This record gives sequence, structure tokens and C-alpha cells, in this order.
Amino acid sequence: MKNIVVLVSGGGTNLQALIDAENNGIIKNGKISCVVSSNPDAFALKRAEKNNIPTKIVPRKSYADNKSYSNALLNVLNEENADLIVLAGFMTILDESIVKAYPYKIINVHPALIPSFCGQGFYGLKVHEAALGYGVKISGATVHFVNEEADAGAIIIQKAVAVQNGDTPEILQKRIMEEAEWKILPLAVSLFCQDKIKIFNDKAMIID
Ligand code: GAR
Repeated sequence: MKNIVVLVSGGGTNLQALIDAENNGIIKNGKISCVVSSNPDAFALKRAEKNNIPTKIVPRKSYADNKSYSNALLNVLNEENADLIVLAGFMTILDESIVKAYPYKIINVHPALIPSFCGQGFYGLKVHEAALGYGVKISGATVHFVNEEADAGAIIIQKAVAVQNGDTPEILQKRIMEEAEWKILPLAVSLFCQDKIKIFNDKAMIID
């Protein structure tokens, strides 16, 4: 059974999807052992507590820069014996010290089809504002491994979602969460925990 540590910063609907998937047996061979928040007020912490999942808070605001923040986070991840780290709405870009310590063991969900609308500055609603601003007709979500560059690690699963007339960033965000993120994130976690994701030439392949 793999220890899954989930990092959050906000509402935690992706965390909820993971909790539900674990409770429903969709996540095989994995257990959420700890939820770590960068924000003491994140509603995600309440979701964890309600499900008796231990929580830790490592406030981003208490650290001067990403490097010192990542060092503090790394200590927590090591204490928790994390086998898999899931960034579920985690709004801080990790320093390479963490990425190097956990190669191909950190996954992130991004609310667009990478390589569109991703990288530094593209997070949360900003992603959907940019997609609507460009006028794309299809967006979606991507689950990928985290490497040293923002949103640039090997892609594990993507799911497309249609943009509709009259969409606002909020409406598009909700549709992409419901139709894509909340499905592909638990699926990727389950595949990882069953050792069904292999890396060839820096690309991820699902072996079923
Ligand atoms: C989600 O849409 C997630 O994909 C996005 O923030 C939202 C968090 O919602 N993450 C990023 O933009 C990271 N680059 P949640 O807290 O309800 O899961």
C-alpha cells in the first residue's frame, strides 16, 4: 500500500475527488496518509479532517522564498514517508530540491490541455480566462509528473472538454473540474499506486 501525501492550497475539490475515489475502491493499492496545506484557511483542510486524514500546515507566507519554503516542505514529506505526492490545487511552484528528491513521484493536475495555457502565472481561474480570451473551442485538464519546469513534466492523462457559447471563466472551470479533473486525477493516482505508469525517454506510458 503506497502512502499518498496530498498538497493543497484552497477549496480542495480535487482532494475530495481523491477521498471519494479511495472510499469507493477506485484508488487501488494507495491510501491518503496526510494532507499538507500552504494556506492555514484552506477549506481542503476541513475536508481532510472530516475524513479523519491527518493534516499539516506549512504556510507559504511564513517563508521568504520558494527555496526555504521547499526545504520545510521536504522535511514534512520525508517525515510522512511519501511514496506519491499529489499537487491538488497547490498554488506554489516547487523548488528543484523537492523535484530531485522525488523524481517521477510528484503529480499535478492542471486545468488546461498542456502545452496550452500553462507555466508560470497560469493557475486557477487565470487559466480559464486565458483560454476564453484566446477563443479556443476545446480545453480540458492534464495530469502530469512534476519536473524542474512549471507544468512541463511527462504527461500521464489528458481529457478534453468543450468550450460553450456564453462560458465565463467560472463556468468553464466548473465544467472542466466535473468532466475532467475529478476523473483523471484519481485514475492517475490509482495507476501510479499499481505501478502501471512507466517512463520511456522522459515520456509516461500507461501499462495495463
Ligand atoms: C483546480 O482547477 C486545479 O486544477 C487548479 O486549481 C484548481 C484548484 O481547485 N490548479 C492549478 O491551476 C495549478 N496550476 P481545488 O482546490 O478545488 O482542487
